[in-house]
Amino acid sequence: MAITDELSTLRDDTLQRIEAAATTDELDAVRVSVVGKKGSLTGYLRSMGDVPKEERAAVGRTVNEVREAVEAALEARKAALSAAELSAAIDAAAVDVTLPGRAQQMGTRHLINGIIDEVSEIFLGLGYTVEHGPEVETDYYNFEALNAPPDHPSRSMQDTFYIRDLSGDEAAVRGESDVLLRTQTSGVQVHAMEDNPLPIYVIAPGKVYRRDVADPSHLPQFHQIEGLVVDKGITFGDLKGTLEFLCKAVFGPERKTRFRAHYFPFTEPSAEVDVSCGICHGEGCRMCKGTGWLEILGCGMVDPNVLRMSGIDPEVYSGFAFGMGVERIACLKYNVPDLRMLLEGDMRFLRQF
Ligand code: DAH
Repeated sequence: MAITDELSTLRDDTLQRIEAAATTDELDAVRVSVVGKKGSLTGYLRSMGDVPKEERAAVGRTVNEVREAVEAALEARKAALSAAELSAAIDAAAVDVTLPGRAQQMGTRHLINGIIDEVSEIFLGLGYTVEHGPEVETDYYNFEALNAPPDHPSRSMQDTFYIRDLSGDEAAVRGESDVLLRTQTSGVQVHAMEDNPLPIYVIAPGKVYRRDVADPSHLPQFHQIEGLVVDKGITFGDLKGTLEFLCKAVFGPERKTRFRAHYFPFTEPSAEVDVSCGICHGEGCRMCKGTGWLEILGCGMVDPNVLRMSGIDPEVYSGFAFGMGVERIACLKYNVPDLRMLLEGDMRFLRQF
């Protein structure tokens, strides 16, 4: 085949490939393969020396014509493809008003606060008020005024974080500082009796601290809700009625409650309240350790000594008190097997509540 024929075949071929290129990248590949340094058309220019003299002018002209045609076609196709690619990019970046909106992840109330609010609402409905005591407390409010003087054996029921006394005081060094992180909200009972006129109907939610290692049923910091009623003629029947009402409101009307005799220094008599297990409904299972019952709170009639220490005459007034662990209530209500799950911040867990 004559070189000029080869060249016109190359031209037709290249023009076809240019039209077929679907992207600027494909188009560039065509350009490189034909008019690039090692391209097929460039090859003809390079080997011009091999062309017989008499044909050289004609071949040279044809190569130039083909190159001009190819370059013009490349230019035109490139403009078309770039415009299309640009408008596709704009489309991709633009707002599609037909798409459903992306939901904002809203913060929600944590389960622990949910239980505190729920219990607070129940008692507000019964005419109680809500009090908050200090988390850094003195020995007097956390123990002594609650009928647990120094060396009272009940103190060992709760291992205490003491606030170090920087004066180097001997007692403080031995871990017997007068200032501590409260181990129970029961101290708010004493504040409430000191600060309010009688009668008293209060609850006191808040954080408490104990020297415990976190495990499925212990946390070094957790929440309690304390309750205190002091009025004339208050009996154990009032306590039972109030707590049964609370249990049914929190756990549902089908759950049973029972009172078990217990000991607390600041109440006499004292009891622990159990609610029937929500998993086995009393049959006995792993959650309730086979007993069919779950312990939910401590309570009792306020010890006359406690009333007296806060300046209330136990001959005239009587009262009841109760205290519950919020994390424990949350786990029992929603069948969560491990207190620590409440604090891990795993959104897949927390979003369920
Ligand atoms: N303070 C007790 C505790 O932390 C719980 C408690 C028991 C509170 C009996 C009370 C009560 O008010 O009457 O273990």
